[in-house]
Amino acid sequence: MPIITRREWETRGARITPETAVIGRRTLLGASASLALAGRSVRAAEAPALPEAAPRNPAFDGGRALTEEKWAETYNNYYEWGEDKTIWRDAQALKQRPWTVKFEGLLNQPRVVGVDDLLKQMPLEERVYRHRCVEAWAMTVPWTGFPLQALLKMAEPLGSAKFVVFETVQDPSMPNLRNPIYPWPYVEALTMDEAANDLAFMSVGLFGKPLPPQNGGPIRLTVPWKYGFKSAKSIGTIRFAEKRPTTFWEGINPDEYGFWANVNPNVPHPRWSQANERLIGTNDRAPTQIYNGYGSSVAALYAGRQSEKLYM
Ligand code: MTE
Repeated sequence: MPIITRREWETRGARITPETAVIGRRTLLGASASLALAGRSVRAAEAPALPEAAPRNPAFDGGRALTEEKWAETYNNYYEWGEDKTIWRDAQALKQRPWTVKFEGLLNQPRVVGVDDLLKQMPLEERVYRHRCVEAWAMTVPWTGFPLQALLKMAEPLGSAKFVVFETVQDPSMPNLRNPIYPWPYVEALTMDEAANDLAFMSVGLFGKPLPPQNGGPIRLTVPWKYGFKSAKSIGTIRFAEKRPTTFWEGINPDEYGFWANVNPNVPHPRWSQANERLIGTNDRAPTQIYNGYGSSVAALYAGRQSEKLYM
């Protein structure tokens, strides 16, 4: 696990990392945050309940013990709010309703859809997924949501669309948007075949309740075979594009955070190993698995792409 004593961008703008300054400090902050929580659930008050109890899909059971809810909701990365583990508190300021998602670009009919209308049209279910951050920590959590496939069907992209692009809202309540070293907005993207894969999921809930803002409420992407930074939070725009966009972290440091970002224990981050992962909320470590253990579902997506930097 790397110890970074100062942020690189303090002297040079080109090497920003999602790794927070010092891992030890981060763990401490996470611990104090969870103490402050003391059994209380962290929710944005105005988010309505999920429209119906979503059945758990037994095909996705995570394969290991669930992370405690308090950790999943306090140990977060969401740079729009800041760079350390106190952000879960500030993120409560993000108003979850009204909330609309704009569909634009290469599709039959551009439109703006209210998130609750969207939920009514989508087949909600619960899936337990492993969640692996590029920073070499991991969680296992139950997301409520719907397959991205279902959203693609509703959006009707044109045959010329090669990528689906997810853009996080830029809300005035987000203090770090004023930090000009970041190329806001936070943008992520998948190829159309990645997006159509059964594992690609749009999450609207966590632990059976509406998705807290710090986890990307009211709606985020969840792609469990990739490093967590691909899973853009609090999505306001979904765009279909022919050209691959420069994604947020790729734009900041393409040598460390690429477009594909598939989990691979054998391809180290330039500054740390990816061979194993720290399980948040415990002192345990586990070996990292290729594609985060989801290779049987996704490895075929990358046949013929071996010349590309698929794993960072
Ligand atoms: N989305 C936005 N908009 N901003 C972010 O900073 N961080 C990413 C991803 N999505 C991030 C984001 C990273 S680095 C990770 S590991 C996951 O969100 C963390 O998700 P979690 O806080 O729900 O565990």
